[in-house]
Amino acid sequence: MDSQSSVPAILISSLEKKYDNGLQALHPTDLSIQKGEIFALLGPNGAGKSTLINMVCGIVNPSGGEVKVQGYDIIKEYRQARSLIGLVPQELTTHSFETVNQIVEFSRSLFNCPKDHKYTEELLRSLTLWEKRDEKIIALSGGMKRRLLIAQALSHKPKVLFLDEPTAGVDVELRKNLWDIVLRLRDQGVTIVLTTHYIEEAEAMADRVGIINKGKIALVEDKNRLLEKFGHKKLILTLAKPLNRIPSSLQKYELEIEGEGTSLTHVYSSVEEDMNLNELLCDLSDEGIMYSDLQTKKSSLEEVFVQLVQS
Ligand SMILES: Nc1ncnc2c1ncn2[C@@H]1O[C@H](COP(=O)(O)OP(=O)(O)O)[C@@H](O)[C@H]1O
Ligand SMILES: [Mg+2]
Repeated sequence: MDSQSSVPAILISSLEKKYDNGLQALHPTDLSIQKGEIFALLGPNGAGKSTLINMVCGIVNPSGGEVKVQGYDIIKEYRQARSLIGLVPQELTTHSFETVNQIVEFSRSLFNCPKDHKYTEELLRSLTLWEKRDEKIIALSGGMKRRLLIAQALSHKPKVLFLDEPTAGVDVELRKNLWDIVLRLRDQGVTIVLTTHYIEEAEAMADRVGIINKGKIALVEDKNRLLEKFGHKKLILTLAKPLNRIPSSLQKYELEIEGEGTSLTHVYSSVEEDMNLNELLCDLSDEGIMYSDLQTKKSSLEEVFVQLVQS
């Protein structure tokens, strides 16, 4: 591995933000994001997600700590760091009378990139905006404006793309469409950092998830490991005959009667082997408890998230 490829895409050390009104929006935070990963910062409204990424992107001044983007300090080496970053902001600010094409070229010029018609065409085509290239921004639909924001953020070919709540208030179809765009960018080697309060979004896309709450990152974990570690499995038995109470011989299993006695559930840790189930099923049959259906359900990231944010 050469030295450059071992440098993290983003290295955050003791980064914090106290706004002028005294609010500590981000407590000192360390975080490292590897090249080529999709990292989702997941947290409720007001958790500090935008504050964190806006500091990395140079829009909000940190109160302390430092950030390096591919080794470049965002303050001391602002130009180099900033040229590596693309940001799709949370707020839509696209009331302009300029055309799609003009806006993308303008964004490039902000980074001192010369006009590149071939790249702009490629970019607009990949975001299905090419047909709209001569339309005025003000005439675009909400979905097209979103895609245009992505085009602007990608205009100077950044290596790291930040998406702040990319699908807030977006309809289901566009949301899926945006997810596809993000996954394609990752395949092209772009590192992606997105913030979201939609668990579904983190679950669908992220390689790693950081859960942030009240200005603190509560946990950073590989998404699949997160689900394994905190996730639970639930065994649901639909009973042949309703059951009023759990026989004492089965008390050790943490069973629950649900649906007015028509089903019996058993929650167990995902890391526990399923071997105990066999024993449970034998004991049930010993007690004469028959079931007509059996299913297991894995808890989603949603349940993990709710657990962590409430605690
Ligand atoms: N410019 C600001 N001045 C004072 N407080 C702010 C400012 N921007 C955000 N905040 C506060 O900081 C906290 C974190 O906000 P934000 O980073 O926008 O959260 P998120 O993006 O997770 O919803 C919130 O309580 C918010 O009200
Ligand atoms: Mg935000």
